[in-house]
Amino acid sequence: MNSSEFDTIGAFVLKNSGIVLSKAKEYLVESRLKPVAEEFGFDGVDGLARGLGTASQEIKLAIVDAMTTNETFFFRDKTPFKLFEDIVLPQMSRARRKTGKIRIWCAAASTGQEPYSLAMVLLKNKHIWAGLRIEIVATDLSHNAIAKAKEGKYTQFEVQRGLPVDLLVAHFTQEGTHWVISDKVKQMVKFSKLNLMESYASIGTVDVVYCRNVLIYFDADTKRKVLTSVRRTIRPDGYLVLGAADTVIGSNGEFERGEERGLYQPVEAKNARMALSA
Ligand SMILES: C[S@@+](CC[C@H](N)C(=O)[O-])C[C@H]1O[C@@H](n2cnc3c(N)ncnc32)[C@H](O)[C@@H]1O
Repeated sequence: MNSSEFDTIGAFVLKNSGIVLSKAKEYLVESRLKPVAEEFGFDGVDGLARGLGTASQEIKLAIVDAMTTNETFFFRDKTPFKLFEDIVLPQMSRARRKTGKIRIWCAAASTGQEPYSLAMVLLKNKHIWAGLRIEIVATDLSHNAIAKAKEGKYTQFEVQRGLPVDLLVAHFTQEGTHWVISDKVKQMVKFSKLNLMESYASIGTVDVVYCRNVLIYFDADTKRKVLTSVRRTIRPDGYLVLGAADTVIGSNGEFERGEERGLYQPVEAKNARMALSA
């Protein structure tokens, strides 16, 4: 790939998704965009880059979609789901007795395994949130990932990655070589497309945010802006769950880490706890 064409693609993807494509990602860009170039009749990836200025919205969306990395699996890293069951859910269930509702947002939900894992934890622990309503909103930049998430249909390989057998039996039916998630789990999650670089107005206010394994693709400035915007969506006593490789280092200091790895709260939560215990 030519250097100037690579720069064109890199600048475009950065502006539209926040994803940083370093020179080392040249092979990735080439392999992911080759099918896009072919589909829309361009002369290779260089041709696609040269045509970007006058490309249709459909082509632009296809480029951004192709450059997202949608790697995910059920109960990824286990701990974030254990923390949800042991700390976040009991705490939020106590705190939300008055409003009667807990809202959870998976901010980079990819093909749905993360929000569906949370939904399965919720179904297993109904006694904790009895009398409350729970809503999971799950968003992602990738149109293709969201479409697959909505379908809730996974391959044998995908269900084998992380999903305990008892949950497979309880919540999925086999259809040929695929496994389809039950309506009961599906109904708990509302999927839509959302770019973390744009407005979060459609999300409203939430109690818990899972924003895992997406900040790693952003530069420091984008990460800081995203964390500031995420903070605005969370109630002061709510929770933010980040991925194993994510931190709030470099942010504007809106969040502080709890005792458990990957679990954060707005700094106001600590002040409120201190005021209560004073
Ligand atoms: C590696 S996956 C992580 C999925 C899941 N959170 C997990 O930890 O298993 C990263 C996801 O972030 C999404 N993503 C990348 N840039 C984004 C942006 N600007 N806004 C929203 N989602 C984005 C990608 O489409 C991808 O599905």
